[in-house]
Amino acid sequence: MRYDDFATEHLDPILPERVIRYIPSAMGSHERTIVILTGAGISAESGLPTFRDKDGLWEGYRVEEVACPQAFRRNPDLVHRFYNLRRAALKTVAPNAAHQALARLQREFPGRVILITQNIDDLHERAGSPEVIHMHGELRKVFCAHCGHCGVWEGDLQTVTSCPQCDRRGGMRPDIVWFGEIPYHMERIEAVLRNADIFASIGTSGQVYPAAGFVSLAKIAGARTLEINNAQTLVSGRFDGQFIGPATREVPQWVEEVLGGNE
Ligand code: APR
Repeated sequence: MRYDDFATEHLDPILPERVIRYIPSAMGSHERTIVILTGAGISAESGLPTFRDKDGLWEGYRVEEVACPQAFRRNPDLVHRFYNLRRAALKTVAPNAAHQALARLQREFPGRVILITQNIDDLHERAGSPEVIHMHGELRKVFCAHCGHCGVWEGDLQTVTSCPQCDRRGGMRPDIVWFGEIPYHMERIEAVLRNADIFASIGTSGQVYPAAGFVSLAKIAGARTLEINNAQTLVSGRFDGQFIGPATREVPQWVEEVLGGNE
């Protein structure tokens, strides 16, 4: 069966399992660059809440109260509290089988595997991923809005925390891309998408741009595209193939198939 036969229009949203089979063994020797985008869904089974699912973070907080520059100016204490909780939660969780499988793919795939994440957690790194492009920043990093100093930060941040470089207070903030700010590494991301042979989007709802548009960029560049998610998303119809199910099951299975298909 050809890959093209699996058009997402035929997808019945009530089917719970792997309704569309993606055939990695069809990957020819010329197909050597896999670009992967991950979102909160890949860390959900590690115990970190997603943003938009039931009981997700945006059910308990409003974006405009904690995740935009205006919020930081208006109520920095609240913003710090929100991210201090997130940073502390990192210490209570561990990478899961999906993170580990992607690290394995990065190590063992004979071509290039570029891992882009919207996640601000460090679970890809802790699973052993050699390189991760954090387009929305990292919880374990801070920067000073006064002098631009950027560094690793393990503990809490307070409004009165002074910058280790310029010693001024009030400017220290989590190194996170908030709504209204430009994601990091966009030039590099666009370049790798232009060279993608396969683009896989894992555990993201496709509601936040520019990440939600990566599938279209990759398709224009000629990549085959795959979505792995435990539910249909707003952008599912743009993908050539889809695995529906929990990331800890679907991602290791896909990685196994990709690595096997390339021998
Ligand atoms: N396995 C696979 N997918 C899952 C799982 C799981 N175990 N659990 C949840 N999902 C899927 C959900 O179905 C949903 O489509 O993960 C997706 C999570 O979506 P969001 O909560 O919207 O998270 P994400 O897409 O990463 O959000 C993008 O929004 O607020 C911002 O900056 C924040 O980076 C974040 C961006």
